[in-house]
Amino acid sequence: MTENLDPREGSLTTRPTAADRARALLDPARCRGLVPHDAGYLQTAGIEIPATRGFGQQLMRTRFYAGVYQLGRPIGLRVASALQAPGRDEDRARTARSLRLRPGHTVLDIACGPGNFTGTYGHAVGRDGLAIGLDASHPMLRRAVADNPGPAVAYLSGDAENLPFRDGVADAVSCLAALYLINEPFRAIEEMARVLVPGGRIVLLTSLAPGGRRDRPHVMVMERLSTMRMFGRDEITDFLRALGFDEIEQVTAGLAQTVTATKR
Ligand SMILES: C[S@@+](CC[C@H](N)C(=O)[O-])C[C@H]1O[C@@H](n2cnc3c(N)ncnc32)[C@H](O)[C@@H]1O
Repeated sequence: MTENLDPREGSLTTRPTAADRARALLDPARCRGLVPHDAGYLQTAGIEIPATRGFGQQLMRTRFYAGVYQLGRPIGLRVASALQAPGRDEDRARTARSLRLRPGHTVLDIACGPGNFTGTYGHAVGRDGLAIGLDASHPMLRRAVADNPGPAVAYLSGDAENLPFRDGVADAVSCLAALYLINEPFRAIEEMARVLVPGGRIVLLTSLAPGGRRDRPHVMVMERLSTMRMFGRDEITDFLRALGFDEIEQVTAGLAQTVTATKR
């Protein structure tokens, strides 16, 4: 617990830190607790960081890539989305709007990388809200703590496929530019659905196979060379529908798709 002087009341009040409030969301059956790391993020005890299966994932775990990632992301996204991606600030604001973030909300940014969206969410949910960024890469988390901190923000190391949280703790969840790197992406989507409250919002930004079809030889070659999964046009929307989501919207641009939906 931290002590803060509340200027409105002119008295000392205690307010739990973002880390304390993140701890309160944990499911003891899934996670043994959160252990502070020297770099300022928290490690989920009892949940293993997944092994990397390819070049793309290995790159994310390097200090060099974590350092340059925030500069290169807008360029990469514009190339992938055939120059239709919005600028960096508009992208963040638009995503926060799609998540319908309000002061006091709890939002999870799964595979948060350097926290480039988590920090914005922290502003949107205010001091009474909580924005948690979770990632498998320690170098990315170091950058997140250094570059995108906030009083309502906490960063955790962990695995998108095995979230440490109880069911129904989050008002909103995002997973941006990461599903194509995650070993079992549909397992990760199931986990995100599990931790959302009914009425909660999800935003997923990921790859789209050329022509919207995954079962083409050239797409399989692309996947093999890039070690990144290309999703078919309906794979994610159909999966969300089967999980009981509605208000499903998909925006495609080049090799990118953004899917937003509401949990019923
Ligand atoms: C390209 S970055 C995306 C960062 C940020 N969300 C964005 O939109 O810019 C992909 C991130 O996914 C993370 N990642 C990959 N597999 C993961 C997993 N199983 N669990 C958690 N994070 C994972 C990587 O460590 C990396 O930081």
